[in-house]
Amino acid sequence: MDPLHLRSAGTSLVISFDSGEAEVIHWGADLGDSLPDLAILVEPIPPSSIDGTVPAGLLPQASSGWRGRPALRGHRIIDGVPGLDFSPRLRVVTITAGHNSAVIVQSDTEAGITVESSLTLHMGGLLELRHTVANDGATPYQLDELATVLPVAPDAVELLDLTGRWAREDHPQRRSIQQGTWVRTGRHGRTGHDSSLLFAAGTAGFGNRHGKVWATHLAWSGNHEQFADTIGDGRTMIGGSELLGPAEVILEPGGTYATPSLFAAYSDSGLDGISKAFYSWFRSRPHHVLPAQSANGGAGKARPVVLNTWEAVYFDHNLASLIELADSAAELGVERFVLDDGWFRGRRDDRAGLGDWYVDESLWPDGLTPLIEAVTSNGMEFGLWVEPEMVNLDSDIARAHPEWIVGPSSESHKDGGRLPLEWRNQHIIDLVNPEAWQYIFDRIDALLRGNNISYLKWDQNRDLLEHGHAGRSSVHQQTLAAYRLFDALREAHPGVEIESCSSGGARVDLGILERTDRIWASDCNDALERQTIQRWTGLVVPPELVGGHIGPTTSHTTARTHDLSFRAITSLFGHFGMEWDVRDVQGAEREELKRFIALYKEHRDLIHSGRMVRADVADDSLMLHGVVADGGVPDGGVPAGTTAALFTLVSTRTSFAEQPGRITIPGLDPELNYRVEAIFPAPGDADYVHTFTQTRPPAWLESGAEANGRFLAEVGLPMPILNPEHALLLRFTVA
Ligand code: DGJ
Repeated sequence: MDPLHLRSAGTSLVISFDSGEAEVIHWGADLGDSLPDLAILVEPIPPSSIDGTVPAGLLPQASSGWRGRPALRGHRIIDGVPGLDFSPRLRVVTITAGHNSAVIVQSDTEAGITVESSLTLHMGGLLELRHTVANDGATPYQLDELATVLPVAPDAVELLDLTGRWAREDHPQRRSIQQGTWVRTGRHGRTGHDSSLLFAAGTAGFGNRHGKVWATHLAWSGNHEQFADTIGDGRTMIGGSELLGPAEVILEPGGTYATPSLFAAYSDSGLDGISKAFYSWFRSRPHHVLPAQSANGGAGKARPVVLNTWEAVYFDHNLASLIELADSAAELGVERFVLDDGWFRGRRDDRAGLGDWYVDESLWPDGLTPLIEAVTSNGMEFGLWVEPEMVNLDSDIARAHPEWIVGPSSESHKDGGRLPLEWRNQHIIDLVNPEAWQYIFDRIDALLRGNNISYLKWDQNRDLLEHGHAGRSSVHQQTLAAYRLFDALREAHPGVEIESCSSGGARVDLGILERTDRIWASDCNDALERQTIQRWTGLVVPPELVGGHIGPTTSHTTARTHDLSFRAITSLFGHFGMEWDVRDVQGAEREELKRFIALYKEHRDLIHSGRMVRADVADDSLMLHGVVADGGVPDGGVPAGTTAALFTLVSTRTSFAEQPGRITIPGLDPELNYRVEAIFPAPGDADYVHTFTQTRPPAWLESGAEANGRFLAEVGLPMPILNPEHALLLRFTVA
């Protein structure tokens, strides 16, 4: 049987069937049109080992000699006796190849198990892999795990994954790959603040723009494991699986289970190449929110400037004051006003009200209409905060339906059943229960029908601990039921955008992003923390989908104080907005804020469609990143004056060096001449004097510089001496 060879954007995936099962021969650099006879790859047999070659299966299995983590774990239950058919021997039945895609069916007829694997190598080089297992037998089959994994090349010797906590999501950690398994387990029932958005294995010292990298992401918002498994013969698999609860999935005869999709990218140019593959995939989705002038036909709309009320007023909802806030926001140039938590029945603080999704009559005697009209008559869209999966015990719905509250017991807590520990005074509503699901759908649907709402900020503020339906572990079903809720509301209200928020960034994954339009990266609006959070979230998620707001001058989560320019430049490289009582912003600071909002509007199409470039800067007190216009140079070249890139140089702390020296700027077109200007803060801005401490700036700073992309990448420019926790915005126009 001929091998399967998928190729796209510098990546090849080769699968051989010579051993009788699907074996991944190569996932990495593009191998070109022709492959040699793959028999040359048959390996030696070491002493004291299996008497044959052990394939790196698409579904690694003990029946082929794989002694690492198997892809499929489960067993059949016959007449109440568990543990039967525990080791499948899957063999290829059919291969259906499509355009850069394939469906491979492997089966073990004796065990009565079939696994269908679907693979697509998307246009930008992102590989999507998903398995579906079917129980062909006549008795129930208990599924314990079905993992999606891929082998990485032997020169991948380092591993990078991400971790975090509330208000500090997506921080990197690195280690060398050694024998054994490195597992990152998420038992939060949601994706989790500490979840690794990416698992990246690479060559020694791989960086932002150098080294080979193989990376995977598991598109799932429930319990999961991601891992790198290195076995005795030196081979490493990376990937992940849904972490199933005890007997959570029992397949009846004919039953099936589908894994979450594993997305995988290969790059020979460091992590920037990985982001390129993910961004390309996101931006090719039909429902992707595109910049107005996007290369994809401009079907979408520019990402509006947001004002979210949370850090401006918290629970202090008062119509007159919110209208003042909306007027002030509109005067600044805000385009979307989002009313956060506190508007519904009984919700004066975080102890009550969740589940009672009715506008609170005592606060809003005329409903939300007066506020919505004030917002929309100012030309802004209106957005509303909801948390549909949650319930407070102090709510009418919890009192009426105690049986809808999730817990480990089959009894309602009113009948003596135990509830999980409270978290932010709240519990989870059992969406697996069709009546509870329908109630939540109807309430949110009614709010959307009855009010002119363009946007939902959909929050989820607790882990799903001891999560059970009818006494059985049910995170799997709850996650699918929540997905169905998103899908049904989107279908009923196609014009409404949805933001995925989960105490900040605890639900950021491609499963939720398939049904939402942006994520809230973190509850931390401190610009210094955000530099790291947004950089690493942006490894996978493009900036147009990552909410980043200018918070109050002194951060509410860290008590650090930052100039407006640092906060504004940080928000610029995402979906820009504010979470700040802008009524108090006056005088020169207000003018500076307006200038910045105008700057965002001028450049958002570039930021939301361009290539992300993160420089590998030797001085680790500095960060340099930017967005370079992508998308085809028209015949005849780029007209002079076109903005081709925006970069920011960020100082995170004091440096060991007296001055930064020349910093090279990668990622520009080597043949194009650019005019480089420092555009924010500008001389005259309130923040300008705070930004630098230098007796004399570099020669080019005040009047700009001109050089081609090759010179900028190889020689660079001497940079000004930035004060710590300050940033400079640079614009590159075609000269
Ligand atoms: C957590 C979110 O992350 C915040 O932005 C805010 O919406 C609060 N919840 C409201 O309760």
